[in-house]
Amino acid sequence: MQRNALFEGGLRLEATGLRYEDTKSDAARLRVLKPHASSLKPLMSQFAFSCEPGWEDRLIGELQRVFPRSANAQAAEGWVASQLSGDDPIGTPCVALCAQCLPRAESIIAESISAWGQAAGQRLIAGLEGHAGPWRLHVFGAYPSLEKGDRHLAATRKSLPRRPVARSQSPFSTGADGAVGRRRCQLIRENVDSLLRKRQRRLLRTQTVADEPWKDGEALVQVGLATAASGYFSLCEEPLRLQLRRMISPFAGGVVEIEADRQAPSRAFAKLVEAELRFGQRISAGQTCVDLGSSPGSWAYVALKRGARVVAIDRSPLRADLMANPALTFLRGDAFAFRPPETVDWLLCDVIAFPQRIIELLQSWIAGRWCRRFCVTIKFRGDSEYSLLEPLKAWLAGAGTEFILRRLTNNKNEVTVVGEVTTG
Ligand SMILES: C[S@@+](CC[C@H](N)C(=O)[O-])C[C@H]1O[C@@H](n2cnc3c(N)ncnc32)[C@H](O)[C@@H]1O
Repeated sequence: MQRNALFEGGLRLEATGLRYEDTKSDAARLRVLKPHASSLKPLMSQFAFSCEPGWEDRLIGELQRVFPRSANAQAAEGWVASQLSGDDPIGTPCVALCAQCLPRAESIIAESISAWGQAAGQRLIAGLEGHAGPWRLHVFGAYPSLEKGDRHLAATRKSLPRRPVARSQSPFSTGADGAVGRRRCQLIRENVDSLLRKRQRRLLRTQTVADEPWKDGEALVQVGLATAASGYFSLCEEPLRLQLRRMISPFAGGVVEIEADRQAPSRAFAKLVEAELRFGQRISAGQTCVDLGSSPGSWAYVALKRGARVVAIDRSPLRADLMANPALTFLRGDAFAFRPPETVDWLLCDVIAFPQRIIELLQSWIAGRWCRRFCVTIKFRGDSEYSLLEPLKAWLAGAGTEFILRRLTNNKNEVTVVGEVTTG
């Protein structure tokens, strides 16, 4: 049985066995979407976008391509503030290089945790006054230098005699001018909750869990800390959240952490797992996958673990245990020359090649209906080719696909397109 659910990127069919479930049909979902599809006016306001520190300029470049009349500027490390114009055609915009989008963002200055709690809590109570449905609260700080730092620290620690890492050495310290720590965000959350307990207990009953799939009618409240004492408050009700579904993540700060898997041939497995999580569909038992550029085999490893059958194409073989797996067929050859004899459930492609070649390969697979779903990375050299993504976004939107296209938490200088062919 298949069910429908909304996750990052919007509509999709859901295979059984997953935790995301919803009972509405796609048609019912579309009826929900359509009345709001032209609601452009709410976009005439300040937006804030978070990104990995160092990616601000590339994000600004993309925002200028997506919203040509917008005014964008770096507001802090890992933050871009945007004034969007109602004159820009909006539709369902797709911004790949942001981690999270905060629509109608209000700047907040708060010197202490309790001041943050008050500032956010009061706005939240006022903003959700007439909102009876579910809502979620994301409080987040700097992009995952913590996660990367932690992983690095963890790896380093393993090779060193055990010694606690001093707080001041943490890449995620909570100094007044420094990056914003997880602990601070947690304490602000607790302050907001305690304000709600005193003033609006009903809101505690309808609050949902961050990182779960969206519920019907769910509003998103975000508190994004640019520094310990400054940041943004954003409240986004469902119509706008659906319209912005390719820029807004249900994961706090748009960050998806994937636990290490020591059995995987390389860390590349995390990209596929993250893409599955964000799109809300996992490769499942009995499905067929073509894995282009598959060596050493981390994506194939994930697919095989899920019980799928894999045709792996590369110039180099995969790790020996994967090559010996009866559910895997290895074809040594050129990924670009391969055509599947019949439609497969998943196209997986992580080939290192010029971005335009990968884009054309994906378009051929979708146009030829050679795959039902796809997860493809597009890798860049330097930062001069991101504009190639704009025609692809438009093409995907017109090609009968539901997709997300974004730089994943586990991507380096690459973006991932994951989606489903929905018509034709
Ligand atoms: C980033 S690695 C893929 C990693 C893989 N997804 C995994 O999870 O282990 C890129 C692969 O693309 C392969 N590749 C590059 N050009 C190719 C081509 N034209 N045909 C087949 N494989 C190609 C390389 O040999 C390399 O193994």
